[in-house]
Amino acid sequence: MSGVRDSLSQRGGGAAASVPAISVQNVSVNYGEVRALENVSFTLAEGRVCGLIGMNGSGKSTLFKAITGMLRPDHGTVTINSGTPALARKAGVVGYVPQSEEVDWAFPISVRDVVMMGRYGHMGFSRRPKAADRAAVDEALERVELTALADRQIGQLSGGQKKRAFVARGIAQGATILLLDEPFAGVDKRSEATITTLLRELAAEGATVLVSTHDLNALPRLADEAILLMRTVLLQSTPAEVLKPVNLARAFGLDVSAGGFE
Ligand SMILES: Nc1ncnc2c1ncn2[C@@H]1O[C@H](COP(=O)(O)OP(=O)(O)OP(=O)(O)O)[C@@H](O)[C@H]1O
Ligand SMILES: [Mg+2]
Repeated sequence: MSGVRDSLSQRGGGAAASVPAISVQNVSVNYGEVRALENVSFTLAEGRVCGLIGMNGSGKSTLFKAITGMLRPDHGTVTINSGTPALARKAGVVGYVPQSEEVDWAFPISVRDVVMMGRYGHMGFSRRPKAADRAAVDEALERVELTALADRQIGQLSGGQKKRAFVARGIAQGATILLLDEPFAGVDKRSEATITTLLRELAAEGATVLVSTHDLNALPRLADEAILLMRTVLLQSTPAEVLKPVNLARAFGLDVSAGGFE
């Protein structure tokens, strides 16, 4: 998509290749007494799709919030293209699709307005959309096949359509790093395939994608690599390696011999 391509070309190509798009080093996050992340370290290279796999409460959403800069780690550092998350956010580099439970779907805002939020960083203080902003929003809506539903209130979309609306926000923004927190939850196979294809295309254009999912069967089609998270990184490897029962058993605390992953 032109937004992603444009922002990448503005970054000046070659030199960026050796710098990880996302680097998380020794990150710990506490919520009061609860230690949600402990000594989490990994890097993700530009243009890769990485699946984030872990049981409920393993810290996936917390990790996304630390990467966006919404949440400041108690220890450790996050860098995006070697800068701080705050800098990346200011530059509109990071697109974030939150977990459904974290969105107020009753908020009186149309699908088009949600996607237009991705343009705020381009608008200056007035926040008055110009022709280029409208064009970017139209293009993003088209790309996720939501043009016909653009004027609906966001809560009046299906689960899969809602996810696509937030992906469109990232596309309109020209984000080169996309963070998606369970975009396939409550989504049918067709919508899942549509979103998967879209994410693969965006990655082929140079975007870096970190996506949490509980759909383990779809992981090899979705991702180049995967991270198994259980408060800390248990493993970062290929989908095939991560999906080995012995590794999943560690992440989900299950008895492999029970055959729960066949
Ligand atoms: N605002 C909060 N206050 C206190 N504890 C929290 C808060 N948010 C999350 N936690 C705790 O932090 C841990 C990690 O939560 P997190 O939401 O990151 O997990 P998750 O992997 O995203 O889970 P899920 O698969 O259910 O979405 C859990 O033990 C959770 O109860
Ligand atoms: Mg979560």
